[in-house]
Amino acid sequence: MKHSLSYLAILIVLLYALANSYMKERSNTPHHTVSESYAKHTAMHTVPHIDEELSRIETPEYTRAYITDIINHGSENLHFKKEEIMEKGFVSKKDAPKVACYVMTLAGNRCDYPKEASLLYTSNCAGCHGNDGKGLGGTYPDLTRRPLLGIEMRKGVLENLRSRQ
Ligand code: HEC
Repeated sequence: MKHSLSYLAILIVLLYALANSYMKERSNTPHHTVSESYAKHTAMHTVPHIDEELSRIETPEYTRAYITDIINHGSENLHFKKEEIMEKGFVSKKDAPKVACYVMTLAGNRCDYPKEASLLYTSNCAGCHGNDGKGLGGTYPDLTRRPLLGIEMRKGVLENLRSRQ
């Protein structure tokens, strides 16, 4: 009886050590090996997102949202001119969609902008992009370009992603 008790004790200690090392190994396993199926799942999931965005990318709403976004966040990835970027916030966040609406009309789109939007454009944007939005003869991006440069680039990225799915 005494013997079997001490065997039991040894067994318990062994089991405990074993369980401990198993838990430790699990927590050391890098997460990315955990789930190949998860990666597959997200890949499948992004296709509808890409298609959805591509289906909207040529609409006036998309263009207006893009221009608003540029005003609010600036632009530095178009590489339009070496080392020249556009700072964010030439107009307030509140005014950004209104100015974007005005910019749309320069490209011949219909957009119902409030009067102050054209003034805001003239005093904050025209210095670089010109009163007509054409970018002072190629010195700055032409805002009447269709599609806008950034949208064209985005479209290319999305099409590329889709073709690799
Ligand atoms: C100091 C000059 C300057 C001013 C002022 C300026 N921009 Fe820009 N803008 C730029 C430059 C430079 C770029 C390109 C930056 C890059 O390479 O990413 C640009 C890019 C843009 C783009 C992206 C064009 C495209 O084809 O994708 C839009 C839209 C835009 N500006 C709108 C505006 C609006 C609206 C205002 C006023 C609220 C404004 N900008 C004020 C210099 C300016």
